[in-house]
Amino acid sequence: MAVRLIRDTLAPHARRLDSARIADLVEADAARPQDFALRIGGLYASFARQRLDRETRDALVALGEAAALPQAFRALFDGVTVNTSENRPALHVALRSALSETAVARDAHAQAAEARVRMAELVAQLEASDVTDIVNVGIGGSDLGPRLVVDALKDFGTGRFRVHFLTNVDGSDAQHRLAKLDPAKTAAILVSKTFGTQETLLNGAVVRDWLGGSERLYAVSANVPRAEAFGVAPERVLPMWDWVGGRYSLWSAVGFSIALAVGMDGFEALLAGAAEMDAHALQAPLAGNLPMLHALTGVWNRNALGLATHAVLPYDERLALLPAYLQQLVMESLGKSVTPDGEAVGLDTVPVLWGGPGTNSQHSFFQALHQGTQTIPADFIGVVNPAHPHADNHAALLSNLLAQTEALANGYSADDPQKSYPGNRPSTLLLLDRLDPRSLGALIALYEHSVYAQSVLWGINAFDQWGVELGKRIAGELMPAVQGDDVAVADPVTRALLDEIRARRARRAR
Ligand code: F6P
Repeated sequence: MAVRLIRDTLAPHARRLDSARIADLVEADAARPQDFALRIGGLYASFARQRLDRETRDALVALGEAAALPQAFRALFDGVTVNTSENRPALHVALRSALSETAVARDAHAQAAEARVRMAELVAQLEASDVTDIVNVGIGGSDLGPRLVVDALKDFGTGRFRVHFLTNVDGSDAQHRLAKLDPAKTAAILVSKTFGTQETLLNGAVVRDWLGGSERLYAVSANVPRAEAFGVAPERVLPMWDWVGGRYSLWSAVGFSIALAVGMDGFEALLAGAAEMDAHALQAPLAGNLPMLHALTGVWNRNALGLATHAVLPYDERLALLPAYLQQLVMESLGKSVTPDGEAVGLDTVPVLWGGPGTNSQHSFFQALHQGTQTIPADFIGVVNPAHPHADNHAALLSNLLAQTEALANGYSADDPQKSYPGNRPSTLLLLDRLDPRSLGALIALYEHSVYAQSVLWGINAFDQWGVELGKRIAGELMPAVQGDDVAVADPVTRALLDEIRARRARRAR
């Protein structure tokens, strides 16, 4: 049903706007810059440089209504089992807002508040200790969110701790990261919802040995018995719950390292910003609902214009990790090709998400954005008021941001085709007054809600990730063979690769 709805809605507009140019759409509609923009708290969003007109926008809004987006958001907040393959609600919103009266949502909100009280106690204990450095050991959602936020909020750090992130199972990560630290003054937080993730358990064991015991070992997990069996004292284990997906979890005790970096007040302000976006997403009419319009624009670009990738370009060095964070949020949530009933979706879903900070990226991949054969839609993100005194640098940063969105949309014709710019490359511009805990919380929540809205439109489950399991299983089976055991390996190519690895090891040992 969703597929037919999307096709039937988009097709006539895609045909009508087949040869439309963004520059002409802007030229023909004097009020477009204002009318294609929204202001939500400290956030300004402009869709004026998308390749669609008012008629299409109205049709997209009607599509959102027909696909029951507002009702789907109500269901999310009420704790309905939206993650059907794992038979769970996805109540990350309950970690920061109380916008539902259902028992399950209220209970989740109360559990989250209780866990925050315990987290604040542990933050206070650590602040009163000799510890100077914190190592967050985790991967995926147990790493990317906290890492992004700690890095983005460096201007708001209390300065009490240096916070480090140990992620990769590659031993070089542990080797180099721990080399500069003093085990007597370091505490480690093992963050794993399942406490069964290979990378985190191996790195956790390395860190536990390096610390010389578990006295300064903390854990955040939904599997408390496993964390305790690993050697973490029960009073240093903070809870997680199966109703929070890993990539939606930075608002829970998974954000312990954030609270250590910016203090509990900073952490609460982050949650308050997200709560503001939650209220907007749940309550604003669809035509003025930023996450829903962002999602509908994404579906337009993917399914009507056939654009297969999406770039995220923060013009703020502090948001340099945002593309990596969004890669997991978007691609693990929307990288699905079947519906919960097992039927093929019948439309393209997730775009490949990538990106990097401006202006650095201008001197690397922007050439392809301007003159490559593929049209790559982009989200540009800018911050109006900087947190540094270098006014000329900031003026240059903002002028580059504005220049790039203009150049991509309008293009430029030169006599020499090599020096011509086709233009007509769509972008959305998001502007923050300033980057602080509150605005960052709202920005991240905007993307979470946009992802959910897209999943509803495509009829897919945004909250499971079965696609990552097969590789994990095979890696587990191959581990003994890589370690040198004589075990049968069925796949002939893998067998040949193992032989090659063994031969090279033997040559080196000689
Ligand atoms: O590999 C995928 C994944 O399950 C992610 O969804 C998750 O964020 C990550 O692994 C880490 O999982 P955990 O927090 O259970 O260690």
